[in-house]
Amino acid sequence: MNRNFALEFVRVTEAAALSSARLMGRGDEKQADQAAVDAMRNALNSVEFDGRVVIGEGERDEAPMLYIGEKVGKGGSARLELALDPLEGTTICAKGLNNSISVIAIAEEGNFLHAPDCYMEKIAVGPEAKGAIDLNRSPTENLKEIARAKKCSVSDLTAIILDRPRHEELIKEVRMAGARIWLIGDGDVSAAIATTEPTSGVDVLFGTGGAPEGVIAAAALRCRGGDFIGRLVFKDDAERARANRMGISDLRKIYGIQDLAKGNVMFCATGVTQGTFLNGIRFFKGGAESHSVVMRSETGTIRYIHTQHHFNR
Ligand code: FBP
Repeated sequence: MNRNFALEFVRVTEAAALSSARLMGRGDEKQADQAAVDAMRNALNSVEFDGRVVIGEGERDEAPMLYIGEKVGKGGSARLELALDPLEGTTICAKGLNNSISVIAIAEEGNFLHAPDCYMEKIAVGPEAKGAIDLNRSPTENLKEIARAKKCSVSDLTAIILDRPRHEELIKEVRMAGARIWLIGDGDVSAAIATTEPTSGVDVLFGTGGAPEGVIAAAALRCRGGDFIGRLVFKDDAERARANRMGISDLRKIYGIQDLAKGNVMFCATGVTQGTFLNGIRFFKGGAESHSVVMRSETGTIRYIHTQHHFNR
C-alpha cells in the first residue's frame, strides 16, 4: 500500500472534523454527525483509489451515505478497504465535551473484520502490557498481569471505562482490585488509543462498546504497538442472525488484534473537540487550525500534523 495514502487521508479526517466542529456544543448530535459524514464522503471521493467502506455508518437501508459496502474514491489501481467513523463521539461533540475525533483506518482488501453493528466486550493496553490481557480472565486477574508486565502494582494502574449501567459489576470489581478508574461518557476509540500514550495516565480500557469502534481501535493500536482483544456481544437473536449473514459462525470467538485488523494498516484521526491526545478544532477569522495523527503499522511511524486552514484562499 502506497505510504503517501496516509497523508492523502488526513485531509479526509480534517475535512470531517472542520465541518462537525462548527456544530460543537449546539446540542444536535444528528446535525453534527451529518456534517462530518457529508464532508468525509466528499473528501474521500477526491482521492485517487478504489475504496470500499467495510466499517461505516451502518447498513445500506439505515445509512444513506458511507454505508457498509459503499464504493468510494475517484477510482484507480489501489483497492482499499476503509473502517471509518466521521464523528466518533457524536454526543461529546453536541455537548462540547472532550475527545470527539474523526477517524479513518485503511487496509488492503480482506484485512478488516467485517464486524456487525452490535456491541463488543473489549480490553486495550499499550505496548508495555502487550500479551498480558485475556478475556477469559477476570478483570482482577487482568489487572495483576498488566501490573506485572508494567513492573508496578495494581494500585498504580488507571482503567478507563464507559460510564454505563451495564458496567456496574466491572466497576465494582476494578475498585475492589485497587486500581483507579476514569469513567467516560462516550468515545472508546480515543480511550483505547490513550492506553498507548504514556502521558495520558491511562493503562487499560475495559468494557463493552460498539463492535465497529473495536475494529477502528484495533487498527490504531496495531500502528502504536499496543494490544486489543474483543468478543462480540449480541442483544437478541436478530443480531445473532445478522452476524451469521455477515459470515460470522463462531459467535463466542475471542478476536485478537490481528483478527480485527491485519496486514499493513494506516490510521488517521483529527481532533474535533479538545482531547487527551489531539487538540480540537480552533476557529479564527477566515480559517481554523486542526490537530491530526497519521500512523502506519508497517513502520510504526506516528506523525502529528498541526494544520492551519485558510478558507478564503
Ligand atoms: P457514536 O459516535 O456513534 O455516538 O459512539 C460513541 C460511543 O461512545 C462509542 O465510542 C462507543 O463504542 C459506543 O458509543 C458505546 O455505545 P453505547 O452508547 O450504546 O453504550
